[in-house]
Amino acid sequence: MDRRALLKQALVTGAGLAAGSALTPFPALAESIDALEHPAEAPPRSLLARTMRGVPFERHETVRFAIVGTGLRGRSVLSELLAIDGVQIVALADIVPEKAARAVRMCVEAGQAEPALYTNGERDYERLVERDDIDFVYTATPWEWHTPVMLAAMRAGKHCATECPTGITLRDLWALVDASERSRRHCLQLENCNYGYNEMLVNRLVHDGVLGEIQSGAAAYIHDLRTILFENRDEGLWRRDWHTRINGNLYPTHGLGPVAWYMDIHAGDAFDYLVSMSTEERGLSLHRAATVPDRTDPKWNERYITGDLNTTLIRTKRGRTIHLAHDVSSPRPYSRLNHVSGTKGTFEDYPPRIYVEGKSAGHRWGSLDDFKATHEDPLWTNIGEMARRKGGHGGMDFVMMWRLVQCLREGFAPDFDVYDAAAWSAPLPLSQMSVARGSRPMQFPDFTRGEWSKARA
Ligand SMILES: NC(=O)c1ccc[n+]([C@@H]2O[C@H](COP(=O)([O-])OP(=O)(O)OC[C@H]3O[C@@H](n4cnc5c(N)ncnc54)[C@H](O)[C@@H]3O)[C@@H](O)[C@H]2O)c1
Repeated sequence: MDRRALLKQALVTGAGLAAGSALTPFPALAESIDALEHPAEAPPRSLLARTMRGVPFERHETVRFAIVGTGLRGRSVLSELLAIDGVQIVALADIVPEKAARAVRMCVEAGQAEPALYTNGERDYERLVERDDIDFVYTATPWEWHTPVMLAAMRAGKHCATECPTGITLRDLWALVDASERSRRHCLQLENCNYGYNEMLVNRLVHDGVLGEIQSGAAAYIHDLRTILFENRDEGLWRRDWHTRINGNLYPTHGLGPVAWYMDIHAGDAFDYLVSMSTEERGLSLHRAATVPDRTDPKWNERYITGDLNTTLIRTKRGRTIHLAHDVSSPRPYSRLNHVSGTKGTFEDYPPRIYVEGKSAGHRWGSLDDFKATHEDPLWTNIGEMARRKGGHGGMDFVMMWRLVQCLREGFAPDFDVYDAAAWSAPLPLSQMSVARGSRPMQFPDFTRGEWSKARA
């Protein structure tokens, strides 16, 4: 037997035994995969694991949440949760006690009991997840903590969700799939952009066949973050560091999540492979030169390697193509591109415009407003007014959290699952690998292990 066959056998037998122990770390299985050498290879499913596709939540009359990371995003999502019926905030964790204290004040001002605090260092979330009064753990920490927090939550029997990206490496992503399948707990990436007004309307247009057979799409995170990245607070404390570590697409999911829904990824299609290339890095270096005059500032010890623009092309198993872009260091207006084209028409966002053959005037864009009466998503029709009043990012954050709470209270399956979380974040490591290899095609792992071709339950 060669080395890999031996490894596989050890994994199958070892994983089955290990699953019996609550103390066994879940990543054991995925740790053994050489992600760089064999990015497409699925580890064998351990004996106790079963698919999490379409698995409903148990019903909760009140959903008891814990939040790890009460910075800008954590507190923004907290404010959405506090406006939703049937939610209790039980516990909060942050390494900066003042940030957690601000979140506590928000809970008390909203009429909730004071949540318990976990502010005793980077791993205090491990104590938090052991509480027996938590249903759902949400993490809005810096990126390197997303996977460890969710693995700990699932080990302790809690459903969990993260901000984007879900994980940094293929090993992270497989570890989460494995942990979710073994613990029977959901592990989600809360992709707010899937709940944007335009995205939900366009998703209905696509599924009503208005654009015909879908052939291509485009997705992006184009957001000039230069000022934020150089601040001495909040994301400026940790996010710039990733620009010294990875050359690729650091933040694929905001654009890709909605396009994945348009293309029925994991409901009849799947990402197959990608090729990726990056420009040179200029933006952060120029910004530092312009805004950090003191050459003894530690920022001058940093060497940025993320190309200003990363361009990735994904081909799906059914032959669709997706143009995926990332640029956070150039002077450009915000865009997620959000394009989708089919045999009968095309939609492009920023600004929104649509062309439908036979309906639109020849070669000229029409207005998406013409489809609001017929294709607005019922979630927006029902709670849109409140979402716009209460919620961040034009209301989509509120719609997303309201829908998650609805699924938990009613005992529905969530709208997305651990396989979506893994596949939507996989372009981060895969683009890095492709760029490093002169744009060589990199195969996506099949996190669903073949179930992508079936309709969702
Ligand atoms: N979906 C969106 O629209 C959106 C918007 C902004 C940020 N984000 C994501 O949200 C996450 C947080 O971003 P942010 O803007 O709130 O950053 P932030 O720096 O304001 O907040 C991060 C918080 O995590 C805390 N923290 C760090 N390590 C911790 C640990 N080990 N345990 C507990 N707390 C820890 C920090 O003290 C800080 O309060 C990131 O993943 C970011 O990409 C998503």
